[in-house]
Amino acid sequence: MKRRVFSGARPTGRQHIGNYLGAIQNYVALQDEYDCIYCIVDIHALTSLEDTGELQRNIREMVLDWLAVGLDPGKSILFVQSQVPEVMELYTLLGMITPLSWLLRVPTFKEKVKLQPHNVNYGLVGYPVLMTADIVLYKAEVIPVGEDQLPHLELAREITRRFNSSFGDIFPEPEAKLTSFPLVLGLDGKSKMSKQAGNDIEIALSDKETVKRVMTALTDPARRYRNDPGHPDICNIYRLHGYFSPRQTDDIAARCRSAKIGCVDCKQLLAEAINIALKPIRERRAALATEPQYIADVLTDGARRARVIARKTLKEVKQKMGLI
Ligand code: TYM
Repeated sequence: MKRRVFSGARPTGRQHIGNYLGAIQNYVALQDEYDCIYCIVDIHALTSLEDTGELQRNIREMVLDWLAVGLDPGKSILFVQSQVPEVMELYTLLGMITPLSWLLRVPTFKEKVKLQPHNVNYGLVGYPVLMTADIVLYKAEVIPVGEDQLPHLELAREITRRFNSSFGDIFPEPEAKLTSFPLVLGLDGKSKMSKQAGNDIEIALSDKETVKRVMTALTDPARRYRNDPGHPDICNIYRLHGYFSPRQTDDIAARCRSAKIGCVDCKQLLAEAINIALKPIRERRAALATEPQYIADVLTDGARRARVIARKTLKEVKQKMGLI
């Protein structure tokens, strides 16, 4: 039997190249070797969303991105979290074995408290428990994620171990799988690329929009004038060249260090390389966007298949916990 992969992403809208390089690349790569399940975690999104008016549209946009980059519903299960309500039951049950102190020390919880002080809801504290429920409901072993999710994964492992030692060994300990770009910085060159921070480059941008976005990026802060020598090793644009222009990185680094190339030229080159790399994805996306019924069917079928597995696990959990 193939080992199982699970991962999820919040439907915050169109996916950016941070999601792509940090996680989605691996979602696609793992499809042939593993039994893959990918979930649009709408319930997790509610921990930060106060206005849910865009939620359904965001879900569709995300599926379009996922299918366009190569997720194949013939190979992987793609579904929306709330369509498999068993996860909420398991979340409640796992909540009973998770010490509050474990949750309060999670760094992402502390960050969220700072980011949304007016909305520190109970769901934020339980966020990693719901993630654990996502994973163990499918007895997943391999979890492709970006580096920012590692604290959550660590907690998922602890909760899994605690469940297994209290009620019997039924869950494998999930393991994170990182890409070679586990943390993509945003256009500010400092913080993680994210929609919330407004420093992202969406996969689905047009060529022109991509150039415009990339041109706003901050580069080597020590290079103030065109003729100053640059420091590619501290420049986020150079890092991105590493993925999008792998054969030119040595040349770009040399020309940057000797000030033969300016930051504007370097960004222009990056934007062009991004546009070339994403062209086939963008074309597939545009074609898929004309098929809303197909997108809806993919999610309905995914939820149906996921639910078969979910029901079985939940029954086993309830038996182990003495509830039935
Ligand atoms: P989310 O929606 O924030 O991000 C989706 C995936 O993209 C990765 N990612 C990045 N990787 C590198 N650089 C970046 N700048 C960057 N931004 C995002 C994330 O690490 C993630 O893999 N809590 C999760 C969703 C989730 C989940 C799960 C994941 C819910 N249940 C179970 C794995 C297993 C999240 O909010 O991802």
